[in-house]
This record gives sequence, structure tokens and C-alpha cells, in this order.
Amino acid sequence: MLKKTLPPRPWLFPRPVLLLSSRDAAGRDNIITVSWAGVACTTPPMLTVALRKTRHSHGIVSASREFVVNLPTAKQREAAETCGTASGRDTDKFVAAGLRKAPAAVVAAPLIADCPINLECKVRHVLPLGSHDLFVGEIVKMHVRHAMLREDGGLDDGALDCLAWGAEEFLRVLARRNHLRAPRFQ
Ligand SMILES: Cc1cc2nc3c(=O)[nH]c(=O)nc-3n(C[C@H](O)[C@H](O)[C@H](O)COP(=O)(O)O)c2cc1C
Repeated sequence: MLKKTLPPRPWLFPRPVLLLSSRDAAGRDNIITVSWAGVACTTPPMLTVALRKTRHSHGIVSASREFVVNLPTAKQREAAETCGTASGRDTDKFVAAGLRKAPAAVVAAPLIADCPINLECKVRHVLPLGSHDLFVGEIVKMHVRHAMLREDGGLDDGALDCLAWGAEEFLRVLARRNHLRAPRFQ
């Protein structure tokens, strides 16, 4: 395989596309599209999101130490674009993106009702890295659309319809059941 050696960049693909909702001390809600994100721990369940220090959401989450990660489907592609380009400093992104709110169970930040999976998180660690700070959030409650759950309580891979980020564009990830044999691991 012929390869070119290049200066280092964080080239890890595809990246999940998430809509992170937050609420400031005055009760104003915001949404930021996040792709620098991943699963970090099983027990307790933890995830990471990397927020650039200049984002309005960075200030809100740093102060409230809470957020909700909402998983959009391809239907919310335009909303993900709006929440990933406009700033909550001057835009109500729930209105601009046409997304509906629902109350969370534990945190003050709202769920995005239109997204089939919502993960309520409390910030447990913040790691300053450079341009971005890494927020490690513990998932303290989750909400999953009924139709995506199997009878045994597991997630039905066949029902997955997610957005991902490639190098420079959105990708639609549609699972095909039994397409690839899966190993068992913990
Ligand atoms: C697909 C996509 C992924 C993004 N991922 C991140 C990210 O992981 N971290 C980040 O700080 N900004 C990310 N951004 C940029 C922010 O979403 C964008 O700057 C947003 O307008 C910030 O909103 P806020 O100022 O209301 O917080 C992403 C944008 C897009 C379109």
C-alpha cells in the first residue's frame, strides 16, 4: 500500500454527530453540534466531548457541570448544521433548528424530544488539552425510543439511523442487521 507521511492531525473517522443541550444559570437553553466525542467507560457509564474554549456552550457546561447528549437521525441533518454554525450567544437554536424540548429526569438541561436517544450527563472531569477542553460526563439517566429496543432490553441494531461526520461532510449510518459478524466482548 503506497502511503504519504504527513504532519499529525486528529484523523479518526467516522466521528459520531451529537447534539449537546445545556441550560445556563438564567434558564436559557442552548444546543451545540459535537463530533469530537466518544464512549469512555462502561462502569460507571462515561462519555467524552471536546469543546473549543471559544464556544458559548463551553462556558455554560463549565458552570452548570451538566449537559444532555442527544443522538440525531438523518432527519435532523439540517438541525445539526444550524446548531453547528450558529452560536447560542445570539441565537435560540431550539427555535432556529425547529427542535422540541422535553424535561430531563435528573439534570436541568432539556432533552431534545426529536432525537431517539438522550443521555443525561454530569461532568466528572475536565481536562484542558489546548484548543479544546475534554469534558468527561457520567451518564446518569438515559431515554430511548421504544421502537429501538429489543424485548430483552438491548438496542436493536436494525433500528439504528445515526449521523456521523466524515472528513468534511455528514454521513448517514444505517445499520444492516447480520451484515458483519459481531464478536462478544465487554
Ligand atoms: C459536524 C460538526 C461537528 C462539530 N464538532 C464540534 C466539537 O466536537 N467541538 C466543538 O467545540 N465544536 C464543534 N463544532 C462547532 C460548533 O458546533 C459550532 O462552533 C457552534 O456554532 C458553537 O455553538 P455555541 O457557540 O452556541 O456553543 C462542530 C460543528 C459541526 C458542524
